Amino acid sequence: MEAPHIYVEQTLAIVKPDCIHKAEEIEDIILRSGFAVLKKRRVHLTPEQASDFYAEHYGKLFFPSLVAYMSSGPVVALVISRDRAISYWRELIGPTNTYKARQTHPDCLRSLYGTDDQRNALHGSDGFSSSQREIRFFFPDSIVEPIAVGQAAKD
Ligand code: TYD
Ligand code: MG
Repeated sequence: MEAPHIYVEQTLAIVKPDCIHKAEEIEDIILRSGFAVLKKRRVHLTPEQASDFYAEHYGKLFFPSLVAYMSSGPVVALVISRDRAISYWRELIGPTNTYKARQTHPDCLRSLYGTDDQRNALHGSDGFSSSQREIRFFFPDSIVEPIAVGQAAKD
């Protein structure tokens, strides 16, 4: 019988400007949640870089203020890895809107660390292709493929 596999994925987490003073605390939570931190970089994005990163939202009403927020101070970008990393990190950070997160998921990280309906403390890639694009945005020479780890067969 073929041994079951665990798919070790990578995803991009960002500690956003409103949460930067808690970056070490967030990294501790990430590690305690079973992730490895593969790469980490502190960077102050220009408005052009923030626009590129959030290009999918170009033209939306909130886009200009999102770009201003994301370029208002430094962020910490982290490549984090574990099985089901992409969906698990999204689950931990919780809903996009901090106020809604506080109502429906009071223990999630955006509920605990977010500021308002836009400044929500943390980012997580929302799928495999966005994780590839976003990891390469901050770490251009990355190889981003899930690794299948075969579980050791018993006896
Ligand atoms: P989105 O990709 O929809 O959310 P998520 O970060 O959960 O993937 O939006 C990107 C960011 O844009 C979001 O983190 C905060 C901001 N934003 C607003 O300011 N207003 C909004 O109505 C939405 C949907 C997002
Ligand atoms: Mg998104």
